[in-house]
Amino acid sequence: MKTEFVCEGKAKLQKSGSVFYNPHMEFCRDISSLAVGAVGEKISICDSFCASGIRGIRYKRENGNAQEVAFVDMNKEAYALARKNAKANRVKGKVHVSDARKFFLEHEFDFLELDPFGTPAPYLPYAFNSFRAKKIGYVSATATDVAVLCGAHSEACLKVYQAHPIDNEFCHENGIRILLGKMAREAAGAELGIEPLVSFSHRHYMKIIVRVKKGAKEAVESVRKLGYIGWCSRCLFRNAIKLPETKICPECGNLLEFAGPLWLGELSNREFVEKMRELNKERKYANEKAVEKMLSLISEECGMPPAYYDLHSIVKKLKQGAVGSEPVMESLRADGYRCAKTHFNPNAIKTDAPLGAIKEIIRELKI
Ligand SMILES: C[S@@+](CC[C@H](N)C(=O)[O-])C[C@H]1O[C@@H](n2cnc3c(N)ncnc32)[C@H](O)[C@@H]1O
Ligand SMILES: [Zn+2]
Repeated sequence: MKTEFVCEGKAKLQKSGSVFYNPHMEFCRDISSLAVGAVGEKISICDSFCASGIRGIRYKRENGNAQEVAFVDMNKEAYALARKNAKANRVKGKVHVSDARKFFLEHEFDFLELDPFGTPAPYLPYAFNSFRAKKIGYVSATATDVAVLCGAHSEACLKVYQAHPIDNEFCHENGIRILLGKMAREAAGAELGIEPLVSFSHRHYMKIIVRVKKGAKEAVESVRKLGYIGWCSRCLFRNAIKLPETKICPECGNLLEFAGPLWLGELSNREFVEKMRELNKERKYANEKAVEKMLSLISEECGMPPAYYDLHSIVKKLKQGAVGSEPVMESLRADGYRCAKTHFNPNAIKTDAPLGAIKEIIRELKI
């Protein structure tokens, strides 16, 4: 059989039919590798669901601060391929055949890559507990169970994340916040607080990279950022609240639905994302432009309140034609509101304006 190779970032990889490799995840790996670089300090890395070894190899080859790298996969063929690929890319690092959970009980690293099939939830307690003596660590988690997080299977979401999802027009933001809420709760169990450095939703997956800090105070502070998002399906009113006070929509009297408990804090750290943008300029990735577009949107939406407004859903309720985000944002800014585009949806905005003000502006635009 012909051996197939693939070039991605600074890695040249051999593929093997039975070992997982998804070329569509190159973009996610680009952003994750930039995040490793943006951490700045020297870190040891564990690529714990390594498959071909592509992430660990790229992190090491592309980032001067990446020190020791270990590769873990429970599949023997993945183990053999990752060994071969690490060697061919001159990346020194031990490759282990193991269940990541068992591995985390026995080893300690600064940066843990969790890239399993589906949800990272079962691995989170093991990952957070592995920091043991460390004061600071990093967890980079991918979730591909987007349908669960976005509310298509609400019982599965309750089971896996112990949270109610809502399948609505901002379900992807709810989903990221549900996953972050789960991470905050699991981290607190290991006496750690979390700080999201970069979080985004793209294609069929969600990616979250957090810094964790040891301490009871830090754990409590991050769990205090949990709450609920109330939402009205009739008028699209929403509010982010610590504990639901009323079930009645203040705008139209309809019954509200609630998503949560979920993370109500920041999804990303603007300073960190700006560092990633600087690094991206130097790297000449094949996806450089798409990465810049994503990171600039993520940076712009930092500091904005939860729950973006999908303009398409609003004009549908108002029985009006389509409206672009630019004229709406221009009018909102003229009225003194803050607003930003969002990476979640090209026809949506984040703003501190109430729904009534947005509807009023859309009506005035007379589309
Ligand atoms: C989605 S793939 C990883 C993809 C890879 N990180 C990449 O970027 O191409 C998931 C990998 O996790 C491995 N895996 C699944 N469950 C595991 C577990 N409990 N511990 C360690 N590896 C596991 C699978 O064998 C598979 O190779
Ligand atoms: Zn309402």
